[in-house]
Formats: sequence, structure tokens, C-alpha cells
Amino acid sequence: MTYIEQIKDFSMEYFSLKGKVAIITGANKGLGMGYALAFARAGADLFIPYHGGSTEDIKALVEAEGRRIVFYQGDLLDRDYLKSIPAKCLEAYDRIDILVNNAATNCFADFLEFPEDGWDRVINVNLSAVYLLGHAVAKVMVKQGGGKIINIGSALSYTADAKCPAYVAAKHGIIGLTRSFANELGKYNIQCNAICPGFIYTDVNKAVSDDPVFYKHITGRISAGRWGTLGDLMGTAVFLASRASDYLNGSDIKVDGGFSTVL
Ligand SMILES: NC(=O)c1ccc[n+]([C@@H]2O[C@H](COP(=O)([O-])OP(=O)(O)OC[C@H]3O[C@@H](n4cnc5c(N)ncnc54)[C@H](OP(=O)(O)O)[C@@H]3O)[C@@H](O)[C@H]2O)c1
Repeated sequence: MTYIEQIKDFSMEYFSLKGKVAIITGANKGLGMGYALAFARAGADLFIPYHGGSTEDIKALVEAEGRRIVFYQGDLLDRDYLKSIPAKCLEAYDRIDILVNNAATNCFADFLEFPEDGWDRVINVNLSAVYLLGHAVAKVMVKQGGGKIINIGSALSYTADAKCPAYVAAKHGIIGLTRSFANELGKYNIQCNAICPGFIYTDVNKAVSDDPVFYKHITGRISAGRWGTLGDLMGTAVFLASRASDYLNGSDIKVDGGFSTVL
């Protein structure tokens, strides 16, 4: 192909998710709500495995875009529930084009007292469930001829914060898992990439954002000069879910206002 032929096809339609079906875990609250609304605005229908809390807000927002949203309640620690997610999505929509492994939990405790059950819970939700759900969904995507898997890492995919060794280990593991999926699945036209958010106000980090010393320390390292918002992540999610990112595989994108590049 000539250079002209290679570039002529490109249009903003590359970013469209029209006709796509996306699974986003835990998207009835927190950052997942942003991905859900962004995908709906880009044209996708949604399947939301969720744990607890209300589903009303995100349902209203997605339906206002003229898109469908189906919820499926359960605990990602329950392997039977976890493994049933792809079949339930197929029952509702007959296809799965996009998976966002968004749900995560944390356990904070002094390192020398760190509880074994806290380690198990965090590793199981934040890493094992990501592997198992991604693996199960990939089998569907292979049959369909392609798909997009987006894993959610963190600033703690690269550094260690105090009192949360399981979260740090799981989020470091997300980078390896993302590369492994990309390596194994690229030949099936499946791209697997990670979004690594910096510091965004949500329930998961309320304890640290409410601590004035920690808050000042972190904010001082963010070159944007502020913590992030849900809206700051939505464009990257659509990009990674869309045709526009078809040649990106195994990458981790830091959406952190510059946090990770400041000494
Ligand atoms: N906020 C940040 O600054 C930040 C920064 C970097 C990365 N992240 C990552 O972004 C993602 C979303 O975090 P968030 O800030 O939006 O936190 P969040 O509001 O606490 O959302 C986490 C979601 O995971 C679900 N979840 C937790 N344990 C579960 C379980 N056992 N089974 C099923 N679902 C479970 C939660 O449901 P329940 O609450 O009902 O249990 C909730 O829907 C996570 O992967 C997090 O690590 C966040």
C-alpha cells in the first residue's frame, strides 16, 4: 500500500463503539461509572457484573444515551459466579467485544501485622479474578474474531505505598498479566492493554485523600497540580476499546497528570 492508501481510511469512526458490547466489572460506582458512560456515548451496550450498592445512577445515564445496560450481581471471590459472567452476557447480547477488569478492593494494615485473609482477598479480587475473567472472555472473543481487554492498574503498578502489600503486588501483577494476554492473544486480533490511573477521588482512596499530609505530598508530585477526575480517564478507555488502538497491545497507559514522571 502507498502512504496515501494507508492514511485515507482513517476517520473519527475509528473511535466509535457502535454495535459493540462491553463488560465492565464494578461499574455501578466509582471510576467504572465513567467508563460505562463513555462507552455508551461511543455507541456500546453494557453488561455490568457488580457487587453491592445501587445501580440506578448509571442505569439512568446509560439509558439516556439510548443504550442498553444489564446488571449481574455477585462476588468476584465466588469462582462459580465469576465463571458464569461470559455466559450471562452472551444470554443478554449474544456477543462480547470489550472487557474492562475494573473491580478491585484493598486491605490496609501495618506490614508486620498484615492479615493473611486480607492478602488472599485482595490478590483474589484484584489479580486472580482479572486473569480468570479475561481468560474466559478471551475464548468468546477468539470465536468472534477479536476483541479488547482493558485491565486497570494503578500508580502502585510501579511503586509501593505503605500498608497495602497485596494491592501493590496485585497491581504490579496487572502489568505482567496484560503483557501475557497481549502476547498470547494478539494473533487472534485481541488487544489487551492497561490503564494505570494516578490519584482520583473515589471511595477506594478516601482514607488517603482525607489525610492532609499524604494529600499534600501526593499533590506536590502531580505536575497537573491536582488529583484526577473520572472524566480524565474516559477518553483513554474509549481509545483502548476502539478500532483506533488496534495496533496497541500489551501497553500500560499512565493517566496520572504526570505523577509518575516527577521525582
Ligand atoms: N481511585 C483511584 O485513585 C484509583 C487509582 C488507581 C487505580 N484505581 C483502580 O481503579 C479501579 C476502580 O477503583 P475505584 O477507585 O472506582 O474504587 P471503588 O469505587 O471502590 O470501586 C471498586 C469496585 O470494585 C468492586 N468490588 C470490590 N470487591 C469486589 C468483589 N469481591 N466482588 C465484586 N466486585 C468487587 C466494588 O464493589 P463494592 O464496593 O460493592 O464491593 C466497586 O464496584 C480499581 O481497579 C482500582 O484499583 C483507582
